[in-house]
Amino acid sequence: MKKNILIGVCAGIASYKTCELVRLLVKDGFFVKVIMTQSATKFVTPLVFQTLSANMVYLDMFALAGEENIKHIELTEWADICVVAPLTANTLSKIANGLCDNLLTTVICALPEAKKIIFAPAMNTNMWKNPIIQENTDKLKKLKRYIFLNPQSGLLACGDYGQGRMPEPEEIYTKIKASLK
Ligand SMILES: Cc1cc2nc3c(=O)[nH]c(=O)nc-3n(C[C@H](O)[C@H](O)[C@H](O)COP(=O)(O)O)c2cc1C
Repeated sequence: MKKNILIGVCAGIASYKTCELVRLLVKDGFFVKVIMTQSATKFVTPLVFQTLSANMVYLDMFALAGEENIKHIELTEWADICVVAPLTANTLSKIANGLCDNLLTTVICALPEAKKIIFAPAMNTNMWKNPIIQENTDKLKKLKRYIFLNPQSGLLACGDYGQGRMPEPEEIYTKIKASLK
């Protein structure tokens, strides 16, 4: 039976690759729902993810508060696995410190313990190497349920060379399938 994949999208330039990830998953018969941070909508419009996933895109926790069920809890029950791609330095740090100030961070915090979460951080090399970001990453890596796809080295969108690139959609897609087994 095909599974439910919840995708979180943060405000990084690599979010354009997440469109292809959603397309690959839907093409393979997975059910996909997307949560975007408010800042992520500056990079890719919700309409792109809405069209590719054939589902509404979830943005604002309080906009959902009037619904019959508490939507963020319903999303945690719906998901078989959660993937955050790209994961920004900002959201990574919030999750590592238990902050729940938007729909994505709240859903991540509320996901039942048995459900895995794949993180694909992507950022400028200096951000990735920043000891605070590394400390927050290590903190999350110590917990078994968090699976990290480390950023790759290469030419970054900012023009620098170094570690920071999000893995290609096919690689994330393969990881999702392997993690669901
Ligand atoms: C053009 C541009 C590109 C950015 N790319 C990244 C990125 O790749 N990774 C990252 O961590 N932050 C990046 N940022 C900074 C984030 O957008 C910023 O920290 C934002 O507050 C993150 O919000 P979110 O974590 O709620 O999505 C970028 C900002 C701009 C303006």
